[in-house]
Amino acid sequence: MKRNLLKITDLTKKECESIINKAIDIKKHPEKYFSSLKKETLLMFFEKPSLRTRISFETGMFELGGQAIFYSIKDSPLGKKESIEDMARVVSRYANVLAARVFDRNDIWSLAKYASIPVINMLDDFAHPCQIMSDFMTIKEKKGKINDLKLSFFGDGHNNVTYDLMRAAALYGLKMDVACPKGKEYSPEEIVLEEIKVLSEKSNAKIRVLDDAKIAAKDSDVIYTDSWMSYGIPFDKEEVRKKMFLPFQVNEEIIENAKSDAIFMNCLPAMRGYEQTAEVIDGEHSIVFDQAENRLHAQKAILLFLRDKF
Ligand code: CP
Ligand code: NVA
Repeated sequence: MKRNLLKITDLTKKECESIINKAIDIKKHPEKYFSSLKKETLLMFFEKPSLRTRISFETGMFELGGQAIFYSIKDSPLGKKESIEDMARVVSRYANVLAARVFDRNDIWSLAKYASIPVINMLDDFAHPCQIMSDFMTIKEKKGKINDLKLSFFGDGHNNVTYDLMRAAALYGLKMDVACPKGKEYSPEEIVLEEIKVLSEKSNAKIRVLDDAKIAAKDSDVIYTDSWMSYGIPFDKEEVRKKMFLPFQVNEEIIENAKSDAIFMNCLPAMRGYEQTAEVIDGEHSIVFDQAENRLHAQKAILLFLRDKF
């Protein structure tokens, strides 16, 4: 039975742990895996831009002995002249894994439903599982563990990365505070809060959504933020969003309120002076480039997992 990775909770905690361990081994000994996906093809559909995701997947497939094909669906017939269902069925005859970055969660769900090969979500409006897998790998490297840590997220609460971070924290049974403005456009959707509630009841996670950044920062081991202007948000919303999110900017005061050895993370792209100050992202707590590097290693492990090559 094929597996998909559409959101981080498509995996169990045990599977996440085993993918992270594999990613750490791949990072240490890349040569051991040079033929692991020999002659295999990863097909990547992109509807929105990317630096890290595209390049790390292309490089990753090359280093596993296979190839990645970039296909822009921005101006393609997807969902217009050709149905998503047909596209998924057709490309399943050519490629071994299909990955897609789309605006609308329904599109990735349809691709997953109709493709006979594993489908990876490379970012939609609901999740970013490859990012979160790399983030948890990075946290493990930096902190030596994931369990018992407190995470806090600042800024856009109505956001793909935020949702999957919350899901991962809930899956692992962690403490997490999400500091974001009140209001439908800026805070998590009900459907996500419901998912978190169900997961937390099982794992004993403690996840809160607050509108006070200082309280959220308290006792944090990991301080995380993401863009205030996610791909696709119209530019005419920038001024009002800047105003709304400014009280949630990660600055020195936030860092001082966290644990003294807290790490600062941002999935990138980042804008200095927006979601964090330059002092923070370029400062001693920041690990954002190690975090970005780990996309390469973690995604190789995800590909091996989905191709049943563990
Ligand atoms: N973090 C991330 O997914 O970056 P890109 O948008 O550059 O792929
Ligand atoms: N929330 C951001 C993540 C970018 C990797 C976006 O959707 O643009």
